[in-house]
Amino acid sequence: MTQNHLIIFDTTLRDGEQSPGAAMTKDEKLRIARQLEKLGVNVIEAGFAAASPGDFDAIRAIAEVITESTVCSLARANENDIRRAGEAISPARKRRIHTFIATSPIHMQNKLRMTPEQVLERAVQAVKWALEYTDDVEFSAEDAVRSDMDFLVQVFDAVIEAGATTINVPDTVGYSVPQQWGERMAQLIARVKNSDKVIWSTHCHNDLGMAVANSLSAVLAGARQVECTINGLGERAGNASLEEIVMAVRTRRDVFQLDTTIDATQIVTTSKLVSTITGYPVQPNKAIVGANAFAHESGIHQDGVLKHRETYEIMRAEDVGWGANKLTLGKLSGRNAFRTRLAELGIALDGEDALNAAFARFKELADKKSEIFDEDIQALLSENVVNEEHFKLAYLQVASQTGETPHAVVTVTENGKELRAEADGGGPVDAAFKAIEKIVGSGAELLLYSVNNITSGTDAQGEVTVRLSRGGRIVNGQGADTDIVIASAKAYLNGLNKLHANTERAHPQV
Ligand code: KIV
Ligand code: ZN
Repeated sequence: MTQNHLIIFDTTLRDGEQSPGAAMTKDEKLRIARQLEKLGVNVIEAGFAAASPGDFDAIRAIAEVITESTVCSLARANENDIRRAGEAISPARKRRIHTFIATSPIHMQNKLRMTPEQVLERAVQAVKWALEYTDDVEFSAEDAVRSDMDFLVQVFDAVIEAGATTINVPDTVGYSVPQQWGERMAQLIARVKNSDKVIWSTHCHNDLGMAVANSLSAVLAGARQVECTINGLGERAGNASLEEIVMAVRTRRDVFQLDTTIDATQIVTTSKLVSTITGYPVQPNKAIVGANAFAHESGIHQDGVLKHRETYEIMRAEDVGWGANKLTLGKLSGRNAFRTRLAELGIALDGEDALNAAFARFKELADKKSEIFDEDIQALLSENVVNEEHFKLAYLQVASQTGETPHAVVTVTENGKELRAEADGGGPVDAAFKAIEKIVGSGAELLLYSVNNITSGTDAQGEVTVRLSRGGRIVNGQGADTDIVIASAKAYLNGLNKLHANTERAHPQV
């Protein structure tokens, strides 16, 4: 890699997945990893291997299929985590272990209960353990933003001496401002011994809405790797958004003079895939990937754009993949055409039975909607996110008319047994959820309910996300259908299935 190259390290599958309810299955992670590779990211942080056996398997499965991007696992600075990470990434053609330990007084005293000397010693030891598995070892000083500068320099000197090849400086709590963050990066590069032998990286959170600005400031100060996520997904206010970083560097090449390997035309597809799978909608006015990002509403703007594009546009919508949603299949498309399109989209189904089931759902959709787009197929395939569906929607009838109380009749199958209930509600969706609750009795709290249309037009599928919480666990359920009430019921049951699956996993930073 040259000094003019900016390494894009995507952590959607790790830090992004730490968002409440965004936990993904192995198959979903594989789909996203394949798309990230197509997008051209240099490093895919595929997860935190020690979190659970499921997380380990997902990283390993990604390591088995990804060949162009480096596959990375996060590991706390302890022997077990690092060995799990090393084993999980072992099949990858290019592999990295990313180990970290907190270096700020507040984290060392209250979370780690370790002295600075112990932290220093452990950081060095962690890098040495990681080097047993790969010579591509990244070290992060968690909460670098609130760490003492002299101590950071001491730790980075020591881990570079031990063999770390990338040094990541995180603003874990999203506290910094761009000027300060750039200065911190510049000072570190100037003061750390052998700083020219490693890649400097930045990892910013968005609590004050400055993750992208802070990251870019670090880049101007010499960072050559940015850690980011698709749609800025991540805990609390999220991480720096990949699409904004990439397009800023590209559009303002005069300022940054850096290249990336990103194929920007894949950005919108990737954004939609991540949003569909995680159930985190993209706000319409979000830069680059929001539905309005390139829409010129006011007459004055439209006139300007029609006369001369650059009047109000600094990027072209098609450069980031807008308008590339291909009309792929229709009512008359056969099984082979469906199979081929799945392969083109990088979707691998497990065996003929899974293909038949997906094809049957596709036919059902094609009966209701004449034009099927790639986004429809992605949503269709995301429906079966819980392999073992404990609860399934068998039947739903809603009655709603002006002046009357909406009423729903629902039949759900639980392990093949049909259960029926009816309920009134404030609206048809409320009535359907109440009827489902009568059957399931989950006691889950509904934290969020949102509807988005997958493509345009009144026959488009509505994609519904519900966020449910029970006993401290939060899950997102998704459902898609041309009928919004059915999509809502599917989403609710999908969330209940995830709660039922009850997969325990450790959080790397707690
Ligand atoms: O925000 C953070 O500090 C992290 C580290 C694990 C790199 O995500
Ligand atoms: Zn983070």
